[in-house]
This record gives sequence, C-alpha cells and structure tokens, in this order.
Amino acid sequence: MDNFNRTLVTTALPYANGPVHIGHLAGVYVPADIYVRYLKMKGEDVLLIGGSDEHGVPITLKAKNEGVTPQDIVDRYHGIIKKSFEDFGIGFDVYSRTTSETHKKTASDFFKTLHDKGEFIEKVSDQYYDAEAHQFLADRYITGTCPHCGNEGAYGDQCESCGTSLNATDLKNPISVISGSVPVVKQTKHWYLPLDKHEPFLKKWILEDHKEWKANVYGQCKSWIDLGLQPRAVSRDLDWGVPVPVEGGDGKVLYVWFDAPIGYISATKELTNDWEKYWKQDDTRMLHFIGKDNIVFHCIVFPAMLKAEGSYILPENVPANEFLNLEGDKISTSRNWAVWLHEYLEDFKDQQDSLRYVLTANAPETKDNDFTWKDFQARHNNELVAILGNFVNRTIVLTNKYYEGKVPALGNELTEFDSSTLAEINVICDKVADSLDQFRFREAVKEMMNLARLGNKYLADSEPWKLVKTDAVRVETIMNISLQITANLAVLMEPFLPFSAAKLKGMINGSDCTWEDLGKTDLLVADHFINKPELLFAKIEDEAIQKQLDKLEATKVANEVASKTVSPAKENISFEDFTKMDVRVGTILEAEKVAKTKKLLKLTVDTGIDQRTVVSGIAEFYKPEDIIGKQVSILVNLAPRKIRGIESQGMILMAEDADGSLAFIEPSKEIKSGSEVR
Ligand code: MF3
Ligand code: ZN
Repeated sequence: MDNFNRTLVTTALPYANGPVHIGHLAGVYVPADIYVRYLKMKGEDVLLIGGSDEHGVPITLKAKNEGVTPQDIVDRYHGIIKKSFEDFGIGFDVYSRTTSETHKKTASDFFKTLHDKGEFIEKVSDQYYDAEAHQFLADRYITGTCPHCGNEGAYGDQCESCGTSLNATDLKNPISVISGSVPVVKQTKHWYLPLDKHEPFLKKWILEDHKEWKANVYGQCKSWIDLGLQPRAVSRDLDWGVPVPVEGGDGKVLYVWFDAPIGYISATKELTNDWEKYWKQDDTRMLHFIGKDNIVFHCIVFPAMLKAEGSYILPENVPANEFLNLEGDKISTSRNWAVWLHEYLEDFKDQQDSLRYVLTANAPETKDNDFTWKDFQARHNNELVAILGNFVNRTIVLTNKYYEGKVPALGNELTEFDSSTLAEINVICDKVADSLDQFRFREAVKEMMNLARLGNKYLADSEPWKLVKTDAVRVETIMNISLQITANLAVLMEPFLPFSAAKLKGMINGSDCTWEDLGKTDLLVADHFINKPELLFAKIEDEAIQKQLDKLEATKVANEVASKTVSPAKENISFEDFTKMDVRVGTILEAEKVAKTKKLLKLTVDTGIDQRTVVSGIAEFYKPEDIIGKQVSILVNLAPRKIRGIESQGMILMAEDADGSLAFIEPSKEIKSGSEVR
C-alpha cells in the first residue's frame, strides 16, 4: 500500500434533524463499513470515524416548528441515528457529535488559528434582517418567489422546485420565516475563506495529482475549479452553532460547513490521544466517504481549510457516491419519501444483511440508482436465498447426514472439475480484493456471490447424493471441496454481510480465519467437526413487499393532499362568532360587466329581504347572460363597501381552488330566496 502505514476513514456526518434512511446507508455508510472491515481483516491499522452534524439552520427551524430547543432536536435524532448504525453493523470506532465540548473547542481553535494567521478576509455585506424578531436571517429563514420559475415557496439559498441555487436577495417578495414580516436589508460583517487564493494549489493537487479519483468526483471538482473559485463566508448571524471566537464575533457562529468537517478531527481526538498520528503524519492515508452533494466541501473547501492551517494532511481519495432514489422518486426527509432504517428493522427483523446486500449490489456508484421493493425481494430471494443460502445449507446438511458433521478428507484423485473449481476459489477471492481496493463495491459483492454460484454449480453437477451408495471416496472429495468453498465464503462474506458471516462461522465451527487465508483449500481440515445447519436467509413473501408498497402509497396520497396548497386551517371561533354572519340563498336577477374592469360584475340580487346591488370579482369565470336566475349564497350583513364607485351591499360566497378558479356555492335544489345558510 504505497507509503502508507495507516488509514483514516471518515463518513459524512448526517444532520441530526431526522432519522437515517437507505440513501444514507447505500451512499456512505455501507461502502465505508465494507472497506474498513476489509482492511481490518487484513490486519491494517485503520479507524472508522463518524458522528452527527448538529448545527445548521434546518435544525433550528425544526426546533422552532415543534416549540422545543435545537438541543432537544439533536439529542433525539443523534440517539436514533446512532442506534440505526449500530443495528446495521456499521463498525464505527467512534460515533461522536458536533455539540460535544471537544468539538466546540477544536472548531473554535481551528477558526482562531486561521484568523490569527491572516487566512480569512473580512467583508461587510447586505443581509436580510427581521426587524420584528431583531435578528439576521440566514438562508433558510427566508422564503419568497423564485426569480427563475415563479415558485412561491423558494428558500433563501435554493429553489427546490427548479433546483437553482439562490441568494436570499434574489427572491421576489421575501418573507421572514420567523415572524412572517417583510425583512429589511442591513449590513453585516463576516469572515471569508479566500478559495480564490487557494485555487492554484487546488488545481494542481486535484486535477494533476489526483487523476485517479472517481470520474464523478473528479468531474465535479473540475467544473468548480473551471468556473473560478470565490471567497466563501465561514460565519453566520445565528445563535445556534460554535461562537465565532474573535473580536467582532458577538451574535455570530461558525458556518455549519466550517465546523462539521472539523468534527472528524474532534471525534478522532475523543477516540485516542494518538489522534495526531492519524491527522498529521504523511504516512496516514485519509479517505472521505460521502454523497455527491458533499463533494465540493470535501474536495475543495475542507482541504483549503486544512492547507491554510498548515499542520494537517489532506485526503488521499474521496470515493463519493451518487444518489439512491426510491421507487423512481428522489428520497426526501421532508416529504417522508424514504425507507427509514429503524422502520425497516421493525418489519424485517434481524435482516440487516439483506438490505446491506441489496444496497451494495445496486449502489449508486457511478450514477443515480433506484431502490425498488420488487428488486429488493428478487435479489434477496434469487441470490441470497437461492444461491448463497442454498449452497451453504446443502453443504452443511449433507456433511451432517453423511459424516455426522465430521469433515471428510480430500481424496487423492481429483477430477479436472475438482481442480478447476479449487483454482477458481483463489481467482474469485483476488477479484474481490481488487475491486475493494478500487472502491468498486458493486463489483466486489457480485464476485463474492460468484463464489457461492461456483459452489452451487459444483454441488449440482457433482451430484454427491447419487454417488453416496456407490462411490464413497468420491463423495468425500466432493464434500471436502464444498466445505472449503463454504469456509472461504464465510471469510469473503464478512465485509458485506457481517451478521450472516458470523452465523456461518458458527455453523462450520470456523476458526478465526483472516483475509490472508482466503483462497486456501484446506481451511477446514479433515476430521474437524462442524455444527448443525441453521437458516441463513428466509424467503421474503409477496405480502411483506406489498406492505411496504402500501406504506409508500399512503405517503404519496398524503403528500398529494398536502401539496394542493390548501391554505392552513384558521383559528377556532365560537358558535356565537359564526352566528354573526347572516348568509342567505339569493337569486341573481340582473348582471352586467363593470366598465373598464376585467374581473368585476355588477349584480342585482333578490335576497328575500330586499333586492340589492353586489359587486363581485367573478367576470373571468361567469358570463353575465349565463347567470341570470342562478341561486347563490350571499353574506347579507357585510358592511357596504364602495367598489369602483359602486356601493356593494353584501358579498357573494365563492369557492376558490389553489389556482384561483372560482365557483358559486349553490343550493342543491331550488329553494326560496332568503333561506338562511347555517
Ligand atoms: N451534514 C452534512 C449532510 O448531511 C454532511 C456533513 S459532512 C461533514 O449533507 F464533513 F461536514 F461533516
Ligand atoms: Zn425556481
């Protein structure tokens, strides 16, 4: 491994504002865990670092919505996330959080060091300010109309409708999320990391010295660099985060993307006093496992920070993945379009390896990929059950049946099929290692399954059950070879399917075989006793899959209802309040357009009480000649108002949908004018 003596693997710190889902697992944590298990099995010095990202505006907004503190939110989700990772066997050496004291000090000191070294520039800029709430409004605290697509719910940093990234000052009709008031522009000072200054270095370091990075990662870096790097603000006007530790920093905190990656350092410190060995020695190989939305921060911003600080190493590789979709749609925490890990385990108890397997086999390594429940079921049933489980089970059952669990000896005379099968074990194991070395996890897991395929085919074609009466020596050889394949599988499976690998090792009474032992054809020596078979994978039935599909369908329906921009329910009123309104059925007697207006009709209405004039904004939806004689609902005791010089006495009640289209509220059968509506 080149000149490296140890490896530091970091995994993106998930935001503690929701639980983790299959997208997290597929993109970051399963590949990182596979890789680290692999290195550990090879006896290498390696650490797997993780933690929760507990700062940032979305967390404060969620807290506000729920009427709790940001600390309450992150405490809740940090716990849930940490447990999910444990449950799925993600073998973190440390799983920390960015609200830890060690982290706050580490991040603060880091900022101070850069500040004192003159690595920041200070700039005063215009920023929206909520004069009612007396506070500056960071990105997501502002909504407004997107200048590109007209979406009225765009955020200050991005329009989720058309995907454009925005500055808050680009929004039309900006509104403060905190008070609902119109924000004012005020000046504020911030610290900026001058990425432009680091551009020549970054250009050479990435584009020339790291051509081996994955194409998706290299490509994204190149397009950022080609566009020209700009200084980036590393502080925010907020009260949730690590306080800016320098003069003028009152009321300001470190930008979440400044403090979060430093979380990798803090977590390592919490793990070991020897942390500097992992962060500051050139013979450490650092790898960042992340999703594609994190590439710029890990390949450009964080390296620039580390470089500016001066004493840290830079990442050797950043094997970022693309996104995993769910049943054709983007996974979304806010729309609840996800398979949550803790919910998966409720429905598929003890079946974490099945999900690990499918997410690896279908990982979004080079492009976005889709997770579907049908594919999950098919891969589980056709591969884990029918190939791997089946082969292992037959081998162990037959060994118990023929030899009472005692491993038979390999005979002296091997057929060509025996020899080629034994040779193939080695080839497959090498391929797995090769693929893992190149972060090609899909390929690796496929090769792992190929070893089970090899075994399955070997057993099926050798048919020991037919020979057992006639050629006992031959059967001993066949079973010995099948057992060697099984033992190799138990080792090879471990990075991918740690729970099942442990179970299988138990079944074969497997010693602690290491990666080094792979390919050997005497892992289980003659006369070694194995145990009774246990089921590795049980078939997943259609009902279990249908249940998941129904759950998603219910989410879809709920989202559709919510997206019909039905205005939120109003506050409750008393019955007395309601009875104040005098609503009647009226009959339209006359109708004409109000001159020089597009929307207004002047109506004469028989209210049963009297005949009166009402001006109504319905001209775009009804022609005057079509509505004479129509019965409608009219609020008769609304105080008269002048509209375009005409006194309007009352109001015709209309139903209005999200598009602003209007319809009369008519009685369902003819009824006397003046009938009360109540
Ligand atoms: N919380 C970020 C996200 O979910 C990732 C932070 S990675 C770190 O996109 F490097 F900042 F820690
Ligand atoms: Zn838009």
